[in-house]
Amino acid sequence: MPAPPTPDILALRGRVVTFRDNPFTTDPVAALHHEEDGLLIIRDGRIAQMGTYADTLRHLPADTQVTHYPDCVISAGFVDTHVHYPQLPMIAAYGEQLLEWLERYTFPTESRFRDPAYARDIARRFLAGLLRCGTTTAAVFCTVHPQSVEAFFSESERLNTLMIAGKVLMDRNAPPDLRDTAQRGYDESLALMTRWHGRGRQMYAVTPRFAPTSSEEQLELAGALLARDQTVFMQTHLAENLDEVAWVRSLFPARRSYLDVYAHAGLVRPRAIMGHAIHVDEPDLMTCHDSGCALAHCPTSNLFLGSGSFRLFDALDPRRPVRVGLGTDIGAGTSLSQLQSLNEAYKVAQGTGHRLHPVQAFWLATAGGAQALHLDHRIGTIAPGMEADLCILDPEATPLQALRAQSCDSISDLLFSLMMLGDDRSIRATYVAGRRVHERA
Ligand code: GUN
Ligand code: ZN
Repeated sequence: MPAPPTPDILALRGRVVTFRDNPFTTDPVAALHHEEDGLLIIRDGRIAQMGTYADTLRHLPADTQVTHYPDCVISAGFVDTHVHYPQLPMIAAYGEQLLEWLERYTFPTESRFRDPAYARDIARRFLAGLLRCGTTTAAVFCTVHPQSVEAFFSESERLNTLMIAGKVLMDRNAPPDLRDTAQRGYDESLALMTRWHGRGRQMYAVTPRFAPTSSEEQLELAGALLARDQTVFMQTHLAENLDEVAWVRSLFPARRSYLDVYAHAGLVRPRAIMGHAIHVDEPDLMTCHDSGCALAHCPTSNLFLGSGSFRLFDALDPRRPVRVGLGTDIGAGTSLSQLQSLNEAYKVAQGTGHRLHPVQAFWLATAGGAQALHLDHRIGTIAPGMEADLCILDPEATPLQALRAQSCDSISDLLFSLMMLGDDRSIRATYVAGRRVHERA
């Protein structure tokens, strides 16, 4: 009988940070699990053991190399719950708010994704950029062109990253070359969903861009696609900007609210992700709570476009908590780094009278994001059985950060310095399913 294949073993040593509980409903410091000198043993892409170096070493097969990251923090990889890969080239586009920004910059950029070679090039740069920032899972909008989805999933499959993505549906209020029809959108989405959903680590999201660019018929067919498979995702935008909200009211006068447009079409359900949700009311939040859908908080984007302030602590109110993840929303967002998103999330919270504790912040960017996507049984925390998607954070990546780190007297304060001062330079390395896919030069 042939010998069974040798399992692929990897051991990482450093300061381990993960979560035992939700820091928005319990004392944040108690919710955090921290090993000052920890050891992770990874076997075949999953965490096999995690504990103190001294205790866990005995589980390590003889001759296994330990990769030591002294002074670095080992965290679950970041989760980006809302981002547009085709908008990477048009990041930092000057001067407009949402609707004008879409017309002037976004639609012309997305038109270029008719060309599969261009789509492949940008998909490659985008995924490399995410990994460079420690992000290992994202919910990603492609463009209306099926080839943009093909390019994205092909590259993600090559990297073995756990990604959610889908073809944008738009059958009105967009340039002719970016429009599908309700039926074509359905057919193309179904073909992509059949080909990619559940293939390796790739997952499909039915992706109506937002209510103004889809007819009622298209939204209903999106609901019909979702009704075929409970495990498929849905992603769209919700109540980001006041002019947009007024436009939706005029396009769908029979609906109680913007969210109700989506609910009516069967789009509000578990694994649905609504970008922004700034201008929503209490009944909307109750609907989100009841349905299990998620909101993506995208602070760098909201500040950049002047869209408004997401009320994070309202959404997470323990009396009717809504699932919330963190999104970069590139190209309206200004950084691929979730550390930068947390920096701005902290300031948005300050502006709305709340204190975002660093442990709450890191939970949002990891375990909370995974929970928002109903993927918390696979990713977002470091524990035996979880998939080994990790990032290694260096709190002393720049002279300023090294100086600031000298005055850190707790792990919470160290995490706070990372989220306020950190970016891609803070990521020493990134691992995907136990394989190193990025290492800082
Ligand atoms: N609303 C509809 N489309 C978009 C988009 O591409 N970006 C943002 N930020 N909001 C949108
Ligand atoms: Zn967006």
